Amino acid sequence: MDGGGGPTDRVRVELGARSYDILIGAGVIDRAGTLVGPLLRRDRVLVVTDETVARLWGGRFEAALAAADIAAETITVPAGEVTKSFAWLERLCAACLDRGLERGDLIVALGGGVVGDLAGFAAAILLRGVRFVQVPTTLLAQVDSGVGGKTAIDMPQGKNLVGAFHQPSLVIADTATLDTLPPRQLRAGYAEVVKYGLIRDRDLFAWLETGGPALLGGDAAARGRAIGESCRAKAAIVAADEREAGERALLNLGHTFGHAFEAAHGYGDRLLHGEAIAVGMVLAFALSVRLGLCPADDAARMRAHLAAAGLPVELSAIAGADWTADRLIALMQADKKVAGGRLTFVLARGIGDAVVMGEVDTAAVRDLLDDALRR
Ligand code: NAD
Ligand code: GLY
Repeated sequence: MDGGGGPTDRVRVELGARSYDILIGAGVIDRAGTLVGPLLRRDRVLVVTDETVARLWGGRFEAALAAADIAAETITVPAGEVTKSFAWLERLCAACLDRGLERGDLIVALGGGVVGDLAGFAAAILLRGVRFVQVPTTLLAQVDSGVGGKTAIDMPQGKNLVGAFHQPSLVIADTATLDTLPPRQLRAGYAEVVKYGLIRDRDLFAWLETGGPALLGGDAAARGRAIGESCRAKAAIVAADEREAGERALLNLGHTFGHAFEAAHGYGDRLLHGEAIAVGMVLAFALSVRLGLCPADDAARMRAHLAAAGLPVELSAIAGADWTADRLIALMQADKKVAGGRLTFVLARGIGDAVVMGEVDTAAVRDLLDDALRR
């Protein structure tokens, strides 16, 4: 199949009656009207976006809808993680209701993971649930947050602590939107691409060692391949374990650490989600080596690759002056991944072989964090 600007890849997320497609390609948002049209019960959609994406891509997206005679009412929220809050959720819900949202209507989330998580959660709870379409415009959202149906807002106690599983009806991932993404944001999204290699695909990781620089440099073929492979990996895991009863937890590699780092910084641009996850994955591999699970060479190799991609790999490089191991552990205890008061970590037996561990000794985690904060 060909899109506006080139070939379109189609990945299916198999979830029975709630199955949906992820369409990936350069220029695919120009076909948004014909893609979204069949899902509509009346010729209008509510588009939720942020100020930056509205300026860069909002007009083109609305034009694509208009070409199919679909009216768009656009609701714009501020850019950045602070928007994933109760206050903005309430404002967004009110704005949708003020615009006469009906049960059969469709909400479109046009933007990065913040817009996707916020608008997706609003869609999950408005009128007890309306359908929504993800149009992810960051690398992170195209390979991770735009797919799989996790929606949430953050709380002062921790990341994503209030939310719902609510699958989109369609995902439209236009790889050309990444042309305007700042390099730091591109690198942050790249951390989640590397994650798929680290979890269960050593060959993908090996390809990223050579293909990663091209992807980060804007090479369209490398980008398309990485996004397609990431979506296939995520679609398979979500299809097997939608509600995270088991293997979906593997997608949280680096996240027990990373979410604590984000909470400790109070959410914002100082530390991006993908940067927190990069350091978190390095620590998860370091812990795996200390626990005798993982060869030290694999930990060194994944660390070197993340560093070469320009991502932070040292905890001391991202830490606030007042961070201590105990404070970070307390934040980890508030995370969703705690069961029976015990911390759950995704560890690794090597690159491409991640494993969920529910019985990790807190003393080992404290020692690791103490050492990492001192470096
Ligand atoms: P983001 O949504 O904040 O986007 C990053 C920045 O890039 C924002 O300033 C945004 O305005 C800007 N931007 C977006 N698209 C752009 C474009 N094409 N050109 C220029 N600028 C653009 O952040 P993100 O990294 O996309 O997402 C991070 C969020 O995703 C976090 O809240 C994280 O918790 C969440 N997340 C959710 C899941 C999930 O499964 N639901 C998975 C991973 C991450
Ligand atoms: N990003 C983790 C998940 O979707 O499960």
